[in-house]
Amino acid sequence: MKRSVILDVDTGVDDAIAILLALKLPQLTVKAITTVSGNVHVDEVTESTKTVLGLTDHNGVRFGRGSSVSLRRTRFRAPEVHGKDGLGNTRKKYDRYKARIRTERAAPLILDTIKKSETPITVIATGPLTNIARAILKDKRTMRRVKEIISMGGSFGYRGNTGPLAEFNYYVDPDAVDVVARSGIPLTVVPLNVTETVPLKREEIVRLSGKSNSLISRFIYDVTKFYMEYHKRAESFNGGFMHDPLTVAIAAIPSIVKKKIQRSMLVETMGMYTAGTTLTRDAKGREKYAPVVSIITEINRRKFWNIFRNHLFT
Ligand code: RIB
Ligand code: CA
Repeated sequence: MKRSVILDVDTGVDDAIAILLALKLPQLTVKAITTVSGNVHVDEVTESTKTVLGLTDHNGVRFGRGSSVSLRRTRFRAPEVHGKDGLGNTRKKYDRYKARIRTERAAPLILDTIKKSETPITVIATGPLTNIARAILKDKRTMRRVKEIISMGGSFGYRGNTGPLAEFNYYVDPDAVDVVARSGIPLTVVPLNVTETVPLKREEIVRLSGKSNSLISRFIYDVTKFYMEYHKRAESFNGGFMHDPLTVAIAAIPSIVKKKIQRSMLVETMGMYTAGTTLTRDAKGREKYAPVVSIITEINRRKFWNIFRNHLFT
């Protein structure tokens, strides 16, 4: 049974690949894509996402521009990781493919898509949760019809990638995480400790791109260059983590998940140095004020890479 999805992105290099994968996977019907500030400002995210859409068939997909700042109006970006344009500074090279698509406003688009869908909607969020939180604050009743929110974010018993403990998406808008977690909508979290088990090495991209000369294959080769050079400098590995493509693949093929747990999750919203940090208590010792969420703890990496290769490098 195909899953009807809304994709909320902060394009970024890994978001760009995740969008292409979502549009290619037969298990998903992408009803709408919405943009949010995160890796770069939402204006850059919006232009870059339209460029990515233009690389493949995006028939019937609605498109919306979302929040420029988090609920608490903070601005935190990562151009040093994803480039100024969010596409490793390669957007110029692919601008001629940019989709000519009507741009709506994200929160109303999310709500309208849910209201009009005959099948339950799954929201896949690969950026900060600002748009999703705004939609909940605007019309919680409609949002409660969402089947599941699958969110790339958080870090549990592991390092952070934004400060010592926090993961980027949840650091940028911790208040939005709190709103979404407390909304009563089933939330599945795909955290950093899982997404950092799928690093894509530069040599693998070179190998895969050598075998396929498709537009998408050439785009992925180009767009990952800057992202991988960042990791080479900052993480001493010539590659890049496929955080968002893994999140999309999990939504499409849940059997990738080998283990997930139900936990009460707290997110730090006040800390000067700890904002965005995610804490858990087990369901038995649940924090009475903390909502229970599903946290993915282990995935089948071989299965993910097969899906990744078979749908993006044909
Ligand atoms: O922490 C990794 C996440 O933050 C990914 O979704 C990346 O694209 C950025 O949004
Ligand atoms: Ca992202």
